[in-house]
Amino acid sequence: MGPGISVDGARLRADLEALGRIGAVPGGGVSRTSFSPADAQARDWYRARCAEAGLTVQVDGIGNMFVSRPDESPAGDALPAVWSGSHLDSVPNGGRFDGALGAVAALECVRRLHEERIVLRRPVRAVVYSDEEGNYSHLFGSSALVRGFSAAQLQELTGRDGDRFADTFAAAGWDLARATRTRVDPGTVYATVELHIEQGPQLERLGHQIGIVTAIVGLGGGTVTFRGRPDHAGTTPMTMRKDALAGASALIVQFPRIARSVSDRAVLTAGIISVEPGGSNVVPGTAYLTVDFRDLQRANVDRLADTIAAAAQAVATEQGLEVDVEFEPTIPPSQLDDRIQQIIGAAAAARGLAASALPSGAGHDSQNLAALAPTGMIFVPSAGGRSHCPEEHTDWQDVENGANVLLDTVITLADA
Ligand code: GLV
Ligand code: MN
Ligand code: MN
Repeated sequence: MGPGISVDGARLRADLEALGRIGAVPGGGVSRTSFSPADAQARDWYRARCAEAGLTVQVDGIGNMFVSRPDESPAGDALPAVWSGSHLDSVPNGGRFDGALGAVAALECVRRLHEERIVLRRPVRAVVYSDEEGNYSHLFGSSALVRGFSAAQLQELTGRDGDRFADTFAAAGWDLARATRTRVDPGTVYATVELHIEQGPQLERLGHQIGIVTAIVGLGGGTVTFRGRPDHAGTTPMTMRKDALAGASALIVQFPRIARSVSDRAVLTAGIISVEPGGSNVVPGTAYLTVDFRDLQRANVDRLADTIAAAAQAVATEQGLEVDVEFEPTIPPSQLDDRIQQIIGAAAAARGLAASALPSGAGHDSQNLAALAPTGMIFVPSAGGRSHCPEEHTDWQDVENGANVLLDTVITLADA
């Protein structure tokens, strides 16, 4: 256990409230898409908070930010570091806690250690990962740290608004040439731990304050494009149509059946649909949909990919359409580290908090980081289990509890 310091709960709340005003949209949500002006403002705010605390920020080629204490060697003759962090970007009209909590709590941990002049065996870094929400690529920043992206791969990426990553990135002042040089030497990282809201209903149902995450789902997804024929909506008989959206709909209604056929945890989502040419009086000639599918077992994610592709092809054949299925490489499920789970459990118990072990249905940068170093995650309850929506909320006492468990866990790891 650590030397008995705690986070400053009032400061943590004030920071989360301030960050929640950046990219705020009417109705209580936030829109901080990666590399948008709101994302840049959030990054500037975060850097300013670090500077006020006397901390040093380094930024890599894809925009991941690493915070260290000036009295520790940031680049490393020291022992491998303990990392803690999360993300500042959000989904469109998302909540104020997803990512923000873990990013600000990690900063608070480093800030408290610095204020108390506590010297641990290993350096502790607060980290902010770029584009966790995958506007351009699933868990983009941590994927860049672990696997890296070639210039050709970066040129291919497009965002949900149809913009090219390369254009948006350059327009926001970043250098594409540096974005290919982001891989981290695993020998420099001892362990990573992320605090996050649960984004589901389990902890609230149990009345527990802390979740010890055991595993994170595998993520597959990409786009399915049906191509038919645009025609006049009034004159084309139903029997003569090649309606691309009718094809997309016939696929989507099969999602519950496909999920059940694979496992009782599998989930499938079509989150974006667009049609061309897009007139109320025109039969859709092209329908484009995104598909996101997840399961805790890698083999099941692969089965979901195959089953969706086969179902899309069967619909296309039946309806006289063409179909293209383009899925990104699967992000595999991750088992989180047993020892870090025990450390989190002990930290919660020492603070008198009820904890339970649970898997994560949401994707997190931690699942990439688990390939770099032993990794753990701490969850705190989400009110009503709601997330990725303006209603997302976590009780302020739960926020403080989670950050204290994070602080104790980081101290234990950094002193090992
Ligand atoms: C991130 O929030 C994800 O689960 O997609
Ligand atoms: Mn998140
Ligand atoms: Mn999210």
